[in-house]
Amino acid sequence: MTADNNMRQNAIYLDHSATTPVHPAVVAAMAPFWAEQFGNPSSHHRIGYQAARAVEKARRTVAEVLGTDPETIVFTGCGSESNNLALRGAMTASKAAGRGEHLIVSAIEHSAVLETARQLRDYFGYELTILPVDRFGRVRISDVEAAIRPETALISVMAANNEVGSVQPWAEIGALARSRGVLFHTDAVQLVAARQWQLNAEPVDLMTIAPHKFYGPKGVGILVVRSGVDLVSSQTGGSQENGRRAGTLNVPLIIGAAEALRLAAAEREERLAHVLPLRDRLLAELPAALPDQCIVTGHPTERLPHHASFAFRNLSGNDLLIHLDVAGIAAGSGSACSSGDPKPSAVLQALGLSPEWTTGGLRLTVGAQNTDAEIDYTLGKIVEIVLKLSALEAGYQVVA
Ligand SMILES: Cc1ncc(COP(=O)(O)O)c(C=O)c1O
Repeated sequence: MTADNNMRQNAIYLDHSATTPVHPAVVAAMAPFWAEQFGNPSSHHRIGYQAARAVEKARRTVAEVLGTDPETIVFTGCGSESNNLALRGAMTASKAAGRGEHLIVSAIEHSAVLETARQLRDYFGYELTILPVDRFGRVRISDVEAAIRPETALISVMAANNEVGSVQPWAEIGALARSRGVLFHTDAVQLVAARQWQLNAEPVDLMTIAPHKFYGPKGVGILVVRSGVDLVSSQTGGSQENGRRAGTLNVPLIIGAAEALRLAAAEREERLAHVLPLRDRLLAELPAALPDQCIVTGHPTERLPHHASFAFRNLSGNDLLIHLDVAGIAAGSGSACSSGDPKPSAVLQALGLSPEWTTGGLRLTVGAQNTDAEIDYTLGKIVEIVLKLSALEAGYQVVA
């Protein structure tokens, strides 16, 4: 079997911003909580107390890693749910208290924020400002400042963008919000594992985390809610999570979430040292090999350490993904939720790219198991596929 065939059989996974494999230590940490320590943490007997103690230990671990207090940690079902709870919960509480009903988000938020914000506007009568971004996908502080009104209750700007990798000036936006008495939520799903947090000293009132993006399990999310922030629960029922999220706690996944976050912090330097050079090769070598067809999207330096994103002239990102998959490479075009959608990317449009670039987005996000040899193979395959698709495209234009 040739090396090429070998590569094709062993898929090269370059979609770590969509999700990651679960770390073996996380699998091991969760194992006892499926069938042995299976109790309901709300139950009043020893088996329940055992589960409750395990959850509270996990909560303390999460809080310690993030530099906050255990009471601020709310376990949810995913990152999308955390975003929903942050926006709906804070806006409903503000309205109920007779405070403002105006919400500010950015144009390149994940759909779990953007669609929630639009629904709050269209079905519930809240006022919404959607901030533009610059050509690197970053929100301008002056735009935030201009958008704040006396009735603004919440600003939600993501810590880093999933599609183009740009890290937002989240700390400046948070500080501005605080100085104006406005709550600040940040969707930190993509950034959380890449930096050390000291949330007690940082201007963040609500923060969203999704453990499956850093070698934790799917089906669990975290929302950090600073003490004193009023939040009306969206999912009503029992009084779990201090009345902020009803439903029997998913003990194994909560244990896995905490272990994944602990490991992300413990192994951060090692992980960054592994992914950065691989990511830098992609960012440098792909546009150099395809100078007329390929540009880097997002910010050149203020970007996620494992994230490389590109736009290809007059190509369909979906065609690229399919050809890459056939070649044994798993890549992404942006948000995992919208992959497979042939429309121009709203994020690339928000960056101000012209239509010839907005359908051809590609995202390559590297992880712990990727190697230099995989990057060599991937670069070669992308160049080959893009040249082939561009030639076909040019042929169609001549015929048309
Ligand atoms: C920035 C961002 N926010 C939210 C989410 C949604 O997280 P989940 O898949 O856990 O619902 C994602 C997932 O792609 C994301 O990238």
